Amino acid sequence: MLNIALPKGRLGERVYEMFAKAGFECPSILENNRKLIFENVEKGVRYFWVKPSDVCIYVERGAADIGVAGKDIILEYEPDVYELLDLNVGICRMAVAGPVDFVDNGLKTLRVATKFTNIASHYYASIGRDIDIIKLNGSIEIAPILGLSDVIVDIVETGKTLRENNLDVKTTILPISARLISNTTSFQFKGEEIEKAVREIKGQIQ
Ligand code: PRP
Repeated sequence: MLNIALPKGRLGERVYEMFAKAGFECPSILENNRKLIFENVEKGVRYFWVKPSDVCIYVERGAADIGVAGKDIILEYEPDVYELLDLNVGICRMAVAGPVDFVDNGLKTLRVATKFTNIASHYYASIGRDIDIIKLNGSIEIAPILGLSDVIVDIVETGKTLRENNLDVKTTILPISARLISNTTSFQFKGEEIEKAVREIKGQIQ
């Protein structure tokens, strides 16, 4: 059995289609119910819907053999997994954003609100900028509006959330997309099936 952790939501559904086309179909997954585990014994595959930010944990600890996680999550948590393939879906970027009229004059410690404290710390360390990190769990855009922070480090996809809150991108830190990842032990012991998935999915990537 190949155990696959998929991120719950639109990205996961898109990625499931890629697996199905690759020969790992499991039609019961498309039934609209609240089940979280789906299995197709004939194809030797079992899928789990998990919270996107948890995929790395399932794969790192071997509860799933492979999974799909955003590069943002991989960089933030630095799990001990193999990154096998850039799926070229779930494309967005990690950026510094702030109020439209905000300019960092570098005179005082910059207050940065983010869910991605590791990525933000690395980025500001790389440019030698002193910061005070404020860890939030969501709706990060509110922080600079209420004066909780000067800027945010967050995912920008369409840019709509920023625009509607009078914020704009100051700097793009990195491009982000979904990656196929593997547990390191599974990669040895289930190598053949995993290689097959990689090969077949690779052929579908635009
Ligand atoms: C993400 C991100 C931004 C938004 C960007 O939020 O944190 O808020 O999407 O998308 P846009 O550029 O297309 O507007 P998410 O929906 O993951 O929620 P949360 O961060 O508030 O938990």
